[in-house]
Amino acid sequence: MISRFAKSFVAIVVALLLLSTVTFLHPPSRSYIDPWSGEQSLHSGKAHANPPIHGTDGGVIMSKLGNATAKAELGRATWKLLHTMTLRYPEKPTPDEREALSSYFYLFSRLYPCGECAAEFQMLLKKHPPQTASRLSASLWLCALHNIVNERLHKLEFDCAHLDETYDCGCGDEPVGAKSPTPDPMDLGRDGDEVGMMRGGK
Ligand SMILES: Cc1cc2nc3c(=O)[nH]c(=O)nc-3n(C[C@H](O)[C@H](O)[C@H](O)COP(=O)(O)OP(=O)(O)OC[C@H]3O[C@@H](n4cnc5c(N)ncnc54)[C@H](O)[C@@H]3O)c2cc1C
Ligand SMILES: *[C@@H]1O[C@H](CO)[C@@H](O)[C@H](O)[C@H]1NC(C)=O
Repeated sequence: MISRFAKSFVAIVVALLLLSTVTFLHPPSRSYIDPWSGEQSLHSGKAHANPPIHGTDGGVIMSKLGNATAKAELGRATWKLLHTMTLRYPEKPTPDEREALSSYFYLFSRLYPCGECAAEFQMLLKKHPPQTASRLSASLWLCALHNIVNERLHKLEFDCAHLDETYDCGCGDEPVGAKSPTPDPMDLGRDGDEVGMMRGGK
């Protein structure tokens, strides 16, 4: 009885050892190494070209932002960032790009430095999930969300037909609506040197 138990125990240990050796000798072919930590991702070997995104689901992380002046300044800067982002977003995004934008907003809704604003924004996202199918749908979706916030704060409604003029960032490429050429990763001067550098290989 005991020897039979011992035998199967040894067999299991040997099997586990063999398995781990095989895994070690054949590392996953599409392994991902985090450029910051140098760690190899545990989620490698699956069909992901990019690492999967975690942390999009939880609650608000930051505490209440008491200073009303700081809150308004942060809000103006943030809206500018968000609207400019959706208005430069691809007209025909890939599934990966769509996932990136969606995840961005969910992560944003946790990490926005004004905790009480973030809590409101999380509720807005529940009712109106990010629209990512195109530049137009994303920018109109965000405009509508901003208008809901405006209404709650007793501000004027913004006419979403004027998005393009308001957020013409002078970024140096074609106007919104024009078909943009495939960016040349080596042409760092395309958008001005700094922006080119920031774009990295994309
Ligand atoms: C996600 C988020 C949540 C917020 N929640 C709160 C909150 O709960 N409580 C609070 O006190 N403050 C909140 N704020 C800040 C608030 O929305 C304003 O940014 C702040 O009160 C300053 O308002 P503002 O009148 O200068 O114009 P903002 O609302 O900051 O808008 C800046 C400029 O954007 C343009 N604009 C206005 N509406 C739109 C639109 N719909 N689409 C595109 N462009 C537009 C206008 O040119 C406007 O001058 C939040 C900000 C953000 C980004
Ligand atoms: C509130 O925020 C504004 C803008 O950031 C800042 O100038 C001001 O000193 C802050 N007030 C207090 C009491 O911290």
